[in-house]
Formats: sequence, structure tokens, C-alpha cells
Amino acid sequence: MKGNSKMNIGVLVSGGGSNLQAIMDAVAVGDLDVNIACVGSDNPDAGGLQRADKAGIPTFVTDYGALFGRWRDGAPLPEDFCLETVAARQSLMKGSDPDSLRAFLEKRAMAESALLAALVPYKIDLLVLAGFMRVLTPYFIDALNTDPNRPRIMNIHPALLPAFPGTDGYGDTFRYGCKVGGCTVHFVDYGEDSGPIIGQSSFSIDPGDDLDAVKKKGLAEEWRLFPECIRLYAEDRLNVVEREGTRVVEILPEKD
Ligand code: GAR
Repeated sequence: MKGNSKMNIGVLVSGGGSNLQAIMDAVAVGDLDVNIACVGSDNPDAGGLQRADKAGIPTFVTDYGALFGRWRDGAPLPEDFCLETVAARQSLMKGSDPDSLRAFLEKRAMAESALLAALVPYKIDLLVLAGFMRVLTPYFIDALNTDPNRPRIMNIHPALLPAFPGTDGYGDTFRYGCKVGGCTVHFVDYGEDSGPIIGQSSFSIDPGDDLDAVKKKGLAEEWRLFPECIRLYAEDRLNVVEREGTRVVEILPEKD
């Protein structure tokens, strides 16, 4: 963020985009003082793209499926992709055999290179993953996180991390019989949903609640928590520090 100008955020969605809507609404009513510069998706049919269109926000699609197909057809890898470097940093595919790991990282580098190129014109300060259902590899993360003290990718996850990382946080919480569920906003690091936690919100899972009820309660918390965490970032109040070997987020008091 430079001078007094508003922070530019980019938002990535894969689905319906109710979190995107909550962020757009917070901006519209003045609770969040940022500029939503663009909304992108890996999924051409994502409902979030229509929400952005309606609000006059530029959109783009990075079609992961098509780009994975190009990799299978032997299209050249991005010139700045180094398999050894990315493989050494990632912790998404621990213990997998070298061929599977190579395929996993090369395919994603094809897609992530296109994603990075799509974001360039918008000069974003922060990238917000609002229901973006793709993991990001160190190839992408390092391109954005040029300052180790100021991570630039934020994700919302539908569980109280570090419990239940992965693609079905509310489902996993419910099936485990948890009496409390929740959501977590965190910075993205090289693992799956493992980065420094910025904020969490919880709700009770009551007798008689089914999975739909759990999701409904969870989303209501997400819509409140996510704009709040973005606001803290925009106010420069998130400080990443090392605590006993783990990177954690300190929330700084409001500035006068
Ligand atoms: C949200 O519940 C979000 O936490 C989750 O996807 C949903 C998106 O809903 N994200 C993940 O599971 C990321 N791994 P939305 O499209 O209505 O915002």
C-alpha cells in the first residue's frame, strides 16, 4: 500500500462466492476501506464471477483444467520454473514418489504461471482466497511473497485449524462429532491450510444439527470474520513473528 491510496486486493473464487459478496458488501457500506481490483477463478462457471460482474469488478478465468491438458500435450513449462527448488520447498505432497510429485508441480506451474500473469495488471497488495479450491505451490507463493514479514496471500478455511485441513472442513468437523465448529483465516504457506492463523470464529454444534445446519452457521461466521481480517491487514496491524519455532500472527492495537 502506497501513501494514502487504498490497498488493492485481488480475490480468487471457485464457487458461489458468498464470501466475495460479504467482502464486497463490507466495502460498499464503508466497513472495509480497500479497492477490489479484480476477481479471478479457476472455474469458468463460478457464481462468484457473476457477482463480481454485477458489481462492475474486472474478472478473469485461469482455466486449470485446460492448462493441465496443455501440460499433458507437452507444452513448454514456464521458463522461471525450477522443479528442484519448488519440490524442496513444498510440503503439500510429503512422501509421494518423484514422478507423481513432478507431475503435480509441473501441472500447477503451468496454471500458476497463467494465474500470475492474469494478476499483473491489477497491481494487487493482497490476494484473498475466498473459496478457491486449488492448492498453491511455492512457485506461485514465492512470486507474491517477496517480503517474508508481509505475507500477501490470505485464505479462509471452514474449520478450526489446525484441525481438519483439506477440502471439506465442515463435513469433517460434523462427521467427527465435534460439539464446536468454526472457521479460520490464515496466511498461505507451503503446506495445506498450515500457514499463520490471523483469526478464528467458532459456533456450537447442537443436538439435531445436520451438516447443512453446520455449514449455515459456519458461513455466517465466515462472512463476518473474513472482512475483519482483511481490514486488519489494510490497517497494517498484522505482525508475523516467530514463537517457539512457529510463525504466528500478532494483532497490533488500533493506531490513533
Ligand atoms: C467456504 O465455506 C470456504 O471456507 C471454503 O469454501 C466455501 C466457499 O463458499 N473454502 C475452502 O474449503 C478452501 N479449502 P463461497 O464460495 O460461498 O464463499
